[in-house]
Amino acid sequence: MKKKIIQFCFPALLITTIILNSCSSSEKLSDKSGVQLWGENCSRCHSVPSPSAYSDYRWETIGTHMRIRANLTHYEETKIIEFLKTANEE
Ligand code: HEC
Repeated sequence: MKKKIIQFCFPALLITTIILNSCSSSEKLSDKSGVQLWGENCSRCHSVPSPSAYSDYRWETIGTHMRIRANLTHYEETKIIEFLKTANEE
């Protein structure tokens, strides 16, 4: 009887821990600012693009394109694009 409890509790505890950990790490991710996300993600495949390189309109399009490439969430993309649009002085 005791063995059965251990057999059930251990995997259940493990799964709970994994789920809780993944939740807290995604919370941390969304705490990051647009500048941070831009610096960390947009330099992974090519040199990090300067905000002034594109107009607001073009950043919108590029944002969608790069969100898919970089596997970002919609929320992260919005933060990055908001930053790029305020920093490009257009
Ligand atoms: C997984 C790799 C990858 C990541 C991460 C990535 N890019 Fe790119 N990016 C590419 C590739 C490949 C191209 C060129 C081909 C294309 O446009 O699909 C490109 C092209 C671009 C261009 C040029 C578009 C044009 O019209 O010439 C810009 C600007 C750009 N990326 C911005 C960004 C920004 C901003 C981010 C961060 C949100 C980002 N990229 C993250 C792979 C990536």
